[in-house]
Amino acid sequence: MVSATVVVGTQWGDEGKGKLTDLLAADMDLVVRYQGGHNAGHTIVVDGRRFALQLLPSGILYDHVVPVIGNGVVVDPSVLLSEIDQLSGSGVDCSRLVVSGSAHLIMPYHQELDALTERHLGRNRLGTTKRGIGPAYADKAARVGLRVQDLLDPKIFRQKLDVVLKEKNLILAKVYNRLALSSSDICDRYLGEYAPRLAPMIGDSVGVIHDALEGGRRVLLEGAQATFLDLDHGTYPFVTSSNPVAGGACVGAGIGPRDITSVLGIAKAYLTRVGSGPFPTELADDVGDLLVERGGEFGTNTGRRRRTGWFDAVMVRHAARLNSLSEIALTKLDVLDTLSQINVCVAYRCAGKLHEHMPYHQSELHDAVPVYEVLPGWQEDTTGVTKISELPSAAREYVKFLSARCGVPVTRVGVGPGREQFVEIPREG
Ligand code: GDP
Ligand code: IMO
Ligand code: MG
Repeated sequence: MVSATVVVGTQWGDEGKGKLTDLLAADMDLVVRYQGGHNAGHTIVVDGRRFALQLLPSGILYDHVVPVIGNGVVVDPSVLLSEIDQLSGSGVDCSRLVVSGSAHLIMPYHQELDALTERHLGRNRLGTTKRGIGPAYADKAARVGLRVQDLLDPKIFRQKLDVVLKEKNLILAKVYNRLALSSSDICDRYLGEYAPRLAPMIGDSVGVIHDALEGGRRVLLEGAQATFLDLDHGTYPFVTSSNPVAGGACVGAGIGPRDITSVLGIAKAYLTRVGSGPFPTELADDVGDLLVERGGEFGTNTGRRRRTGWFDAVMVRHAARLNSLSEIALTKLDVLDTLSQINVCVAYRCAGKLHEHMPYHQSELHDAVPVYEVLPGWQEDTTGVTKISELPSAAREYVKFLSARCGVPVTRVGVGPGREQFVEIPREG
């Protein structure tokens, strides 16, 4: 019996995927990242110690878990190695890590072009993390990318680099008036410095995952970013360049849809977004500031202030469809503890028309006016709650309401950043 579970963000990222992945990893054998790169920032808090992971799968803190970086990820080797060094320095054993040889490499020109393109776009910029993610995936699609396995074949690496660098240097010089990058400098770093250290970790991730599934071991697929940052299903162009949706886990890990037995959607009890793009329930008032402050809503790695707003059930209901969610973990309920009233968006009004589903045309979403239901707050501290019966009744009603509106059972509620700060909710019926 195969058992693969996907953890997927249902909003615009930073829902607490790292925390939930870590929590579930206690009972998992493999934890696999299937897309994205170090644009992700996944936080885990254990006994007051905070770990902010970018590329390493969030199961890595357990000795029994094999962490895997799947073929769908884009890897900046210098970031990966420094993350490994940092964790190893804190006593975490990273030696079991498997990095897919088919994952693509983020190269120095990707990072530079990401920043230059953003600058060129000016006020139309996307607000990317400037980590080179988009340019690396673009090269993958254009079939001029370098892959992790190329680090093991210096001749191929140099050949591919020379071809692609010629074009990149022309763009850097002629379009952006920048200095050319040196092929030999890049080879010194990638082949001389990174390859010898990464070589023992590079492997056949697809084989490792299938051996585990066939051996009856449990596999967790950890999504980065989120449904509405998905290249196909998100608020394009204000999206990332990969497919975080659960279907992306099949491609990015090399498994078929029938290998996936459940999909856990992670939703924040309110809503945040970093970077540009539409955000119908955004709050530009004291409540918005309160959510930033109480929720610590600053980028895990970039430090950028996150935009905040009310929970949008239209979005999460759509996420339930796109990902075939089995259940939802609702995080950061405690952040709402002090509010006397809480709004939930249940529909949009676009040009006088009521939409209960996401409007398919992006322009409508930009002008969508949220239709709110107002629920009473509980104004009690929930951070010490460990059982559903200890949650204030208004908090239980809030969770129940979201579950009904999203059409998916909420089976866990987060009441603080700590690994132990969550409440299990038994399924009804
Ligand atoms: P991810 O990218 O989805 O893994 O989420 P991030 O780690 O970027 O952001 C989530 C933030 O919320 C982190 O600082 C977590 O430590 C924190 N967090 C997660 N769950 C909870 C919760 O239930 N309550 C509170 N107060 N913080 C939480
Ligand atoms: P986790 O996994 C929140 C956003 C960026 C930008 C857009 C494109 O921690 O939830 P990119 O650098 O990917 O080309 O930027 O996507 N973004 C995220 N927002 N959480 C993330 O990851 C994100 N990764 C990218 O802010 O708007
Ligand atoms: Mg994050």
